[in-house]
Amino acid sequence: MKKFIIFFLFCFISFSYAEDVKYTTHIKPIFESKCAGCHNGLEYEEWKAAVSKDPNMKKDMVGMKMDTFRSLIAYVTWPNTGALMRRLDNGANVKDGKPGNMYEYLGDTKEEREKNLEVFKKWVPVWKLGRINELSLNEILEQNKIKDRY
Ligand code: HEC
Repeated sequence: MKKFIIFFLFCFISFSYAEDVKYTTHIKPIFESKCAGCHNGLEYEEWKAAVSKDPNMKKDMVGMKMDTFRSLIAYVTWPNTGALMRRLDNGANVKDGKPGNMYEYLGDTKEEREKNLEVFKKWVPVWKLGRINELSLNEILEQNKIKDRY
């Protein structure tokens, strides 16, 4: 019985902790120091159009706008479903074990990268790397709850 109580207490604590990770308090500070320098320009569609005219933009590491809550969650839910997770994952969720190409920016040391990744993982309701057609309806609905995590 005691074990069960401890188990439920543990679930409750980890659940409420996950619920508590919010954009403004937890994600924004990391994003501003690690990502915003490259992700503060054009919105995705405009960025894509600009890159097709000037491919050097990619080489020059000019990223698409993600420096607001609204623009960032578009890479979690819709329309760029899963992009944030694919790019930030440390390789644990892919067959070849290769980290996403934005993982390196999460920190200067492995320790810092893992620490910041954990924060993103707690903020995103479902850490799935798939595109929208690879998610179940339930996962899509669950993922949508990111809208309440401002
Ligand atoms: C040095 C500049 C630079 C930094 C720093 C950087 N990015 Fe990027 N990022 C880019 C560029 C350029 C692209 C587009 C090229 C590509 O797809 O790799 C990109 C692409 C992405 C994409 C893919 C979007 C899509 O749908 O194609 C995501 C998600 C992303 N970055 C997230 C992040 C996050 C989160 C951080 C901070 C941890 C970060 N980036 C830091 C330059 C940067």
